[in-house]
Amino acid sequence: MLTGKKVRLRAIDIKKDAELFTEWINDYEVVKFLGRPFKSISPDEERRILKGLLLKKDTVLFAVETLDGGNLIGSISLMGINHFDGTAITGTLIGDKQYWRKGFATDAKMVLLNYAFTVLNLRRISTRVVADNIASVRVQEKCGYTREGVWRKEVYTDGKYRDVVLLAVFRNGWMKQWREYIRKAD
Ligand SMILES: CC(C)(COP(=O)(O)OP(=O)(O)OC[C@H]1O[C@@H](n2cnc3c(N)ncnc32)[C@H](O)[C@@H]1OP(=O)(O)O)[C@@H](O)C(=O)NCCC(=O)NCCS
Repeated sequence: MLTGKKVRLRAIDIKKDAELFTEWINDYEVVKFLGRPFKSISPDEERRILKGLLLKKDTVLFAVETLDGGNLIGSISLMGINHFDGTAITGTLIGDKQYWRKGFATDAKMVLLNYAFTVLNLRRISTRVVADNIASVRVQEKCGYTREGVWRKEVYTDGKYRDVVLLAVFRNGWMKQWREYIRKAD
């Protein structure tokens, strides 16, 4: 288990977690900026998807749980892990909307980056965010990512073609940000 200031990242338990994951994936407001067609799914389909993700060798998927109360509120992942280049891509989903705008995604992402840089020894982590997903862009910037470019009108999501912002963070420089983050009380 990996612990931050507000959340812990733990292994997914498909049997226990799939119901809530299904609720989130079926909530249009939660998934509208994920850049894929909206389609509601059943708990069985979600169990199959989770099983497939957990079997992937280049992916690490964690459940995000509150430190206070141990509530399951979302998931966070490293995908496309490439040990030769030292790179991976991150994805974050806080599915329980009552936890939005309270710093949970930022904390989960900082914990994940520390794992990526210190345990997996990666050196560059990137992400792609629909430009209109202001909260997500903000989370990446708070965690030390900088913008590297824009793919114009790259995805059709939430009713129109939208830009995608590319962001990345490097281990060099970030470890200082982590030490300051973990030292500072909220
Ligand atoms: C995007 C998401 C991860 C953000 O999670 P969160 O826990 O609310 O994020 P945090 O509270 O850590 O930080 C959000 C930041 O964005 C800001 N923010 C949130 N919504 C905003 C909005 N609509 N407009 C402007 N700023 C906004 C917050 O104020 C905060 O910044 P601050 O600390 O400087 O005030 C969450 O909303 C989510 O999971 N959405 C659905 C899935 C998704 O879009 N994932 C990202 C895919 S790239």
